[in-house]
Amino acid sequence: MQHAKIFSVLRFTFYVPRPMKLLVTGGAGYIGSHTVRKLKAAGHELVIFDNLSSGHQDAIQTFELFVGDLVNKQDLEKVFSQHAFDGVVHFAGSIEAGESMTDPKRFFNNNFVCGLNLLEAMLTHDVKKIIFSSSAAVYGEPTKMPIEETAPKNPTNVYGLTKLMFEQVLDAYDYAYGLKSVALRYFNAVGADPSGEIGADHKNKTHLLTLMLLTALGQHDSIKIFGTDFPTPDGTGIRDYVHVNDLADAHVLALDYLTKNNNSNKFNLGNEKGTSVRQVIDLAKEITGVDFKVIEEPRRDGDPAELFASSQKAKTILGWQPQFPEMRQIVETAWNWHQKHPHGFEK
Ligand SMILES: NC(=O)c1ccc[n+]([C@@H]2O[C@H](COP(=O)([O-])OP(=O)(O)OC[C@H]3O[C@@H](n4cnc5c(N)ncnc54)[C@H](O)[C@@H]3O)[C@@H](O)[C@H]2O)c1
Repeated sequence: MQHAKIFSVLRFTFYVPRPMKLLVTGGAGYIGSHTVRKLKAAGHELVIFDNLSSGHQDAIQTFELFVGDLVNKQDLEKVFSQHAFDGVVHFAGSIEAGESMTDPKRFFNNNFVCGLNLLEAMLTHDVKKIIFSSSAAVYGEPTKMPIEETAPKNPTNVYGLTKLMFEQVLDAYDYAYGLKSVALRYFNAVGADPSGEIGADHKNKTHLLTLMLLTALGQHDSIKIFGTDFPTPDGTGIRDYVHVNDLADAHVLALDYLTKNNNSNKFNLGNEKGTSVRQVIDLAKEITGVDFKVIEEPRRDGDPAELFASSQKAKTILGWQPQFPEMRQIVETAWNWHQKHPHGFEK
């Protein structure tokens, strides 16, 4: 018993992650482009696979890019034949939850069917490790806060459903084929790399903080907030915002975890404290120095009063420690990016 304990301490102490060759789908996107920098800094060799439908070449200037689409099995076959990958980090997908209700076909195809294409290519080429971008949307509207990984999964939109379905596929592929996965359930990704070189530039600008900062830059007349009569201290909805570089760090740790343990798992990634819409507005106004106009609208159907994560599992098992836990740091880094690139990336 004592020997086993000493051995496990030694193994942990002297564990040095092996550099891996990785395929990063959707690596030209917002979270992907921040993560590839961290993966490279950790010594991994990367090929980014992206159709550039919402990603940006400028976000990944120094990285090898294979322009391809997960819908095309030939593209996947080509990239897997050209490189001997040790694993895959899978960001590619369609992300707007609202759109998933009006155009579910696109979401089932891009998030689910394309995901299956990717897994097929992985199995054909004997690649047995994947990190998957899942979402807090798998939970829907749990009433117990903070949300733990074991909370009931009742997605309230097609987007969340596609993420949950793909997680279940990953479980089945582990059982049947020994394909090991880590699903990372992000809460609301925000902020930008402190360098100001990369940041959020989504085609559909629906993210609250982005909208506020672009309004502060004069690109919109006002922002709308939905619901000021929630049972929260200031009446506005409370959400969990997590810095994109902290999400990026978690991917490096998740890969180490997979290599070390060869065990599938799922982790929440959030800051474990909610911030209200009103608090985000106050901070954005203070940091930008602009008193932008805010229009108050009624609550939207099905918007829960508050959602925030427990990330204890990621902290304990992965050793994840967010470096930007304060909303102020998050808003400052996002503002730095938007000021330097008011119209986003050129290409
Ligand atoms: N942004 C968030 O707050 C958030 C929260 C939870 C989960 N997620 C998940 O994280 C992942 C990344 O999100 P993001 O905000 O960086 O989005 P993003 O749109 O910036 O990035 C997605 C990338 O995937 C590429 N892509 C899409 N479909 C593709 C296909 N069929 N073939 C090849 N490339 C394709 C796009 O061009 C883009 O570069 C997504 O899977 C998303 O669902 C994001």
